[in-house]
Amino acid sequence: MIEKETDLISILEKALSAKPQEKLTEVGTVIKVGDGICKVYGLSNAVFGELIEFENGTFGIILDLDEDYVSVILLDSTHSVIEQEIAKRTGDVFRVPVGEKLLGRVISPTGKPLDSLGKVEFEYRSPVEKIAPGIIHRQPINESLETGITVIDCLIPIGRGQRELLIGDRSTGKTSITIDTILHQKGKDVICIYVSIGHKQANTARLVYELEKHKALEYTIIIDADAQEPALNQFLSPYAGCTIGEYFMDKGKDVLIIYDDLSMHAIAYRELSLLLRRPPGREAYPGDIFYIHSRLLERAGKLSEKKGGGSLTALPIIQTQGNDLSAYIPTNLISITDGQIFLDTNLFNQGIRPAVDIGLSVSRVGGIAQTKAIKKVAGKLKLELAQYNELLAFSQFGSELDKASQKILDRGKRAIEILKQPEKETYSFVEQLIFLFLLKEGFLDNLKLDDVKPFAVQFASYVKSVYKDIYEEILKTKDFDQKDESALKKAAEEFVLIYSKPF
Ligand SMILES: Nc1ncnc2c1ncn2[C@@H]1O[C@H](COP(=O)(O)OP(=O)(O)OP(=O)(O)O)[C@@H](O)[C@H]1O
Ligand SMILES: [Mg+2]
Repeated sequence: MIEKETDLISILEKALSAKPQEKLTEVGTVIKVGDGICKVYGLSNAVFGELIEFENGTFGIILDLDEDYVSVILLDSTHSVIEQEIAKRTGDVFRVPVGEKLLGRVISPTGKPLDSLGKVEFEYRSPVEKIAPGIIHRQPINESLETGITVIDCLIPIGRGQRELLIGDRSTGKTSITIDTILHQKGKDVICIYVSIGHKQANTARLVYELEKHKALEYTIIIDADAQEPALNQFLSPYAGCTIGEYFMDKGKDVLIIYDDLSMHAIAYRELSLLLRRPPGREAYPGDIFYIHSRLLERAGKLSEKKGGGSLTALPIIQTQGNDLSAYIPTNLISITDGQIFLDTNLFNQGIRPAVDIGLSVSRVGGIAQTKAIKKVAGKLKLELAQYNELLAFSQFGSELDKASQKILDRGKRAIEILKQPEKETYSFVEQLIFLFLLKEGFLDNLKLDDVKPFAVQFASYVKSVYKDIYEEILKTKDFDQKDESALKKAAEEFVLIYSKPF
């Protein structure tokens, strides 16, 4: 009994000796509200990025610390916050739900369901801002991520863990490339995450419809912060998507994440910064605009075997104005990523779709991971196309061309035909290899331009059904040796005869 008494005394002593200020710093008062920003007085212990809870249950994030007050941006614009309202520190940062059950769902960056499938079930909540894995925990990129798009897989290959920028003017097929890439991952054990930032709701609805139709939604998660969402939610959505991706990467899975698009993300952040009265810099963007994108994309990569060997491949999208690659945000992103795929409006209008400008596109690390078989047939193609483009400009002067130049022109035209690809039609690497093999060996030289693609596609399905063993062997070994080459040549010679015969 005596013991208990002393206990009580010590507790009372402790309570009395506690300075009242210490507790008061955990609670503050709203002194000003406007444009979704609250200035809160009294939270002198609060830290940058901390989650703040208001009296009415609304949450906000601290994005600015001042001497006398903190600026809190509201996460939810539907509940209003009034002056003199109490704001409490939570001692926590903003977290997003993660877990396997998120697959097939469409959610907002705060984790709210946007589909009709009911409550979002999750394992736990994970912070949206995380430090990227260090070099010790990474390994070089060594496996390719097939997009199913011939021009990309053969000429600008992407590796698992790479960051490849998709850049181009509006309506040049940027989103279509990413949708096709998601569709192509079917049965390949790759988790896809699509982050939509600042787009119309109709765009997301179209995406969900397409993925559902092709049964691709089951391995995809869509995070949607559309144009009507507050700027803060748009700003947070890529980080939220990345955190969900990291959950799967840490389990040893391969993840593909698409940020559509980071120009909108930069605009949302500019809006926030201007509201917070931060000094504007170039193009009115704040000084830390580079850092917000670099810290996001640094989180992509390939983990070491010790860490499970998972990977996070990022495909950020940037929209340019008038094909201007030297604007502020495009140049930043080009320098952060491991290469870019540049989509050109002129090519798109000429009917060359996907409208990839091969001269301006590059993949800085994917080549190492490219499938050996494809490397063998695609080796010289980029150079040949460059020669073709140069000659094409020259031939427009109407001068007579020698035979060798004419041959380069003819071959180039056929190469361009072969690289054209309609939407929602993706090819396995063996099919792509067959196309390029036909081109390289001159089987397409005598065909009319319009016949080139149908001939190649039909030949690929001919090999798939009649010469199944060759097809399967290339698919299995991922190599294309002398034996396969002569067998494929024989099959092509055979097919030319069949094709030329009128039915
Ligand atoms: N390979 C293709 N073949 C034929 N049409 C295509 C191809 N790729 C895209 N398109 C068409 O081009 C249009 C624009 O495509 P998409 O929406 O992907 O472009 P975007 O660059 O993402 O546009 P935005 O800048 O508006 O986001 C769509 O109507 C699409 O159907
Ligand atoms: Mg788009």
